Amino acid sequence: MLSKRIRTMTPSATNVLFAKVAQLREAGEDIISFNVGEPDFQTPIEVRDECKKALDAGKTKYAPVSGITPLKEAICEKFLKDNRIEYEKDQICISTGGKQAVYNAVMAVCDPGDEILLPTPCWVSYVEMIKLAQGIPVLIPPGEDYQLDFHALKNRITKKTKAIMINTPNNPTGVCYTKEALLELGKLAVEHDFYIISDEVYEKLVYDNNRHICIAGLSKEIYDRSIIINGFSKSHAMTGWRIGYTAASKEISRGIAALQGHITSNSTTFVQWAALEGLKTCDDSVEYMRKEFEKRRDFIYEAMNQISGIHCTKPEGAIVKQSKIQTNMFICDTMCL
Ligand SMILES: Cc1ncc(COP(=O)(O)O)c(C=O)c1O
Repeated sequence: MLSKRIRTMTPSATNVLFAKVAQLREAGEDIISFNVGEPDFQTPIEVRDECKKALDAGKTKYAPVSGITPLKEAICEKFLKDNRIEYEKDQICISTGGKQAVYNAVMAVCDPGDEILLPTPCWVSYVEMIKLAQGIPVLIPPGEDYQLDFHALKNRITKKTKAIMINTPNNPTGVCYTKEALLELGKLAVEHDFYIISDEVYEKLVYDNNRHICIAGLSKEIYDRSIIINGFSKSHAMTGWRIGYTAASKEISRGIAALQGHITSNSTTFVQWAALEGLKTCDDSVEYMRKEFEKRRDFIYEAMNQISGIHCTKPEGAIVKQSKIQTNMFICDTMCL
């Protein structure tokens, strides 16, 4: 019989729907899928070319578990340039997708019975990852405009609170947490001594005058307690390449690498070389895709609000959005714009 751990796990609703869409398409149905957060752009040519070069150059062997040094250094440079945060290369662990990076982070800090705060609505995999780590997901209802509700949050902090998992820009709401909210959250984490696992895979997809704020940059104490997740799937249209990373204290990073060393080892070696090229040369492609997503967001936002009975809040970021029917019923569709 399957383990209790697996039996109590709910399969990823996103993956179930993804399979259903594929099945319907194969049967000849014309489907517009609003399901997975997958850019419909091709991976930038520079990344694809570098991957071919890396393969031809024999970069097909095992690499260090936490990643190749040039990529870790480029990620440190990215943090400095984009977020004004200093990381050293041994604070970075490159993983097989942002998904593995999130799971690594949860496993690194969560003991059985630990409580992990989870603002909702949230990405489908968080709850299951916490359960797999034998932690207890503590769901926090959203505040106004889907920002953090500090009243609800404070009420749920206990002695067992080990971490909070946040996601900004947010899937599924499209909200970007404000600097003030992140600062208040950081102060709570310092006061009650819990970790902040911050999933920032949609960092590059912010619209209008919104600016992504990485919580680790707000103070030294907050930095020490933060585990930042990021990746290439959403920013560089590299969903199928499976590459993401964590940035954390050296202690946590060592733990993450130790765990990963027993599970997947290094993220695919030639993919790491290709991702490095993405960081070095693809800012224009990333910006081009962002602008396209913004245009589509504007289009669908206006179109949806013209439908009688539907009120739709304007997503500030991410490639997803949520809509609310005026009768207070939720449609929690995530919609690839
Ligand atoms: C909020 C969030 N975090 C992480 C991921 C995982 O991304 P990756 O493809 O890098 O594993 C996704 C993918 O949909 C996501 O929506």
